[in-house]
Amino acid sequence: MAKIEPNTVYARDCVKGMKAMEAESVHLVFADPPFNIGYKYDVYDDERAAGDYLKWCGDWIQQVSRVLRDDGAFWLAIGDEFAAELKLLAQKEAGFHCRSWVIWYYTFGVNCKRSFSRSHTHLLYFVKNARRFTFNADDPEVRVPSARQLVYGDGRANPLGRLPDNTWILRPQDAPEGGFAAGHDTWYFPRVAGTFKEREGFHGCQMPEQLLGRIIRTCSRPDEIVLDPFGGSGTTLAVAKKLQRQWLGFDMSKEYVRHMNTRLAKITPGDPLDGVADPLASAPKTKEGRRLDQVVSGKNERERAARSKSERAAARLDRASQKPKSSRKDQRPLFPLG
Ligand SMILES: C[S@@+](CC[C@H](N)C(=O)[O-])C[C@H]1O[C@@H](n2cnc3c(N)ncnc32)[C@H](O)[C@@H]1O
Repeated sequence: MAKIEPNTVYARDCVKGMKAMEAESVHLVFADPPFNIGYKYDVYDDERAAGDYLKWCGDWIQQVSRVLRDDGAFWLAIGDEFAAELKLLAQKEAGFHCRSWVIWYYTFGVNCKRSFSRSHTHLLYFVKNARRFTFNADDPEVRVPSARQLVYGDGRANPLGRLPDNTWILRPQDAPEGGFAAGHDTWYFPRVAGTFKEREGFHGCQMPEQLLGRIIRTCSRPDEIVLDPFGGSGTTLAVAKKLQRQWLGFDMSKEYVRHMNTRLAKITPGDPLDGVADPLASAPKTKEGRRLDQVVSGKNERERAARSKSERAAARLDRASQKPKSSRKDQRPLFPLG
């Protein structure tokens, strides 16, 4: 097999691809594998027997461990179904140390009719060496404002803010100040929904760039190599390129790889990340939102205004043609009244 080069995305099975790589050659791995929940991908079958799925996860996690440097980090995005098993597998079989179990809480999940709708993904942050790893705690783009700064006007507040910190909440926009801080270990970023400008459109699992931004900024340095074994829409690679890291990806779908290459070709290192860094600031609080009754009454207002405008126009026409109004009395009104 040809040598695997950085700054390339390969249409290849990631286990085979990683076996062809040199040991200890990448600094950061972000893996968002299929969750084995029957999701529709173009090539991959996401409904396997649990034992097969776990065996396969063991294989690729072993390869991640082999290609990762001793001071490297491994982030695993996974659903509820297999989070606990994969955490144990990574620790017990591949020797990883878990530094954080982060919850990515998102809005715009797929609505379920007979279950609670899925609104979070587990992000397991592992390192190979529990004492030696990159953690850019002082990067101002990783830090978030503290409650001491935002709410309490506390002179003891670190002006540089604090590092990012679990919660039942209906809408994060309504959380009390500091109650759902970006700095908690429940992270809020909206999913990349169909109407978002950021949406690439060819892959249903596209992760938000801001989420990958936090991971890549915290756990790698410029020019280091970021590997994504399950490229998908290419978010990890796109963000790595924007943040001036080297990038390397696999996906078994030729079609996804073709689209990823198009996405990556449009990026120049240093480009800003898509999406807003502070999603709470960009969405209205419920008390500032519009209720359905207001929307309906606003619609009626608009319809009434349009009706009287069209009636005035019709009257002008009547006058212009000098026809008596009664000659039109059998015509339907332009808008039904009501
Ligand atoms: C959940 S998606 C990744 C989404 C990605 N994080 C993003 O932001 O777009 C998982 C991807 O893994 C790919 N895949 C599944 N099995 C694979 C394998 N053995 N090797 C490489 N890619 C694989 C699928 O084609 C799919 O695109």
